[in-house]
Amino acid sequence: MAKAVVIAVDGPGGAGKGELTRRLAERFNFALLDSGAIYRVLAYAARKAGLALFDEESLVQEAQVLNLSFKPESDGVHVMLGTEDVSRAIRTEEAGANASKVAALPAVRQALLQRQRDFRREPGLVADGRDMGTVVFPDAQVKIFLDASCEVRAHRRQLQMQSQGKEADYERILQEIKERDDRDRNRAAAPLKPAPDALILDSTELSIAEVEAQALAFIEQKLGKLN
Ligand code: DC
Repeated sequence: MAKAVVIAVDGPGGAGKGELTRRLAERFNFALLDSGAIYRVLAYAARKAGLALFDEESLVQEAQVLNLSFKPESDGVHVMLGTEDVSRAIRTEEAGANASKVAALPAVRQALLQRQRDFRREPGLVADGRDMGTVVFPDAQVKIFLDASCEVRAHRRQLQMQSQGKEADYERILQEIKERDDRDRNRAAAPLKPAPDALILDSTELSIAEVEAQALAFIEQKLGKLN
C-alpha cells in the first residue's frame, strides 16, 4: 500500500517555514508536524529536571518519557508538556538555542525519530524541520528547502519581537541566528542541508504569498492537483 503523502519543508529558523507549513496543512487538510517544537520541549523539560544540555544519556531517557502533545485551540496549536502549556516558554531565543544544543546529540535524535514518523497519516502530513526530507521522511513525495539570508531572517525576527512588545536588538539577534545556523548546519548527525531532490526556495526577496505560490506549483508538479 502506498504510504500517506508527506510534504517535507526544511530550512533554517526564520525562513518562513512555520507560516508556509501552516498554510499548506490548512489548504490540503493535512496533519502538521512542528518537529522543532519537539526539540524545544525536550530542552525545556531537561532544564526543568536540572539536566545538563550535553548529558546525552539522561537526555535520551528524558526523550523516551517526554509527555508532549499538541492541542488545537481557537488561537492556534498549543504545545503541552504534561498538563503545562509551554507554548510561550519554548519560543524564546534561549529556548531555541537550547533546542539546537540537544538536537546536535545523535542518540537524542534517534530517540525522537519514531515519535516524528508517527505523525504520518492519511490524507497527508506537512512536516516542518531541519531533516524532514533527509532523515525522518527520506521517502517524502514532496521536499522543499526554504532558505533566506541571515540578515533578512534577523530583521523578520526583530519585527516579530517588536510586535510582541519585546526588546529586540538587531545585532544580537543576527549573532544568535548565525550561531544557531552554524551548529545546525555543521553537526555530524542529520545536519541542516537540502535533500538532493528538494526544491530550493530562497525567500530572501519573496513575500509569504510568493513563497506559497512557488511551493504550490511544485506540489502540483509532484502530486497533481490535490483540490
Ligand atoms: O525550527 P525551530 O527553530 O523550532 O527548531 C529549534 C531547533 O531544533 C533548531 O535550531 C534545530 C533543532 N531542530 C532539529 O535539529 N531538527 C529538526 N527537525 C527541527 C529542529
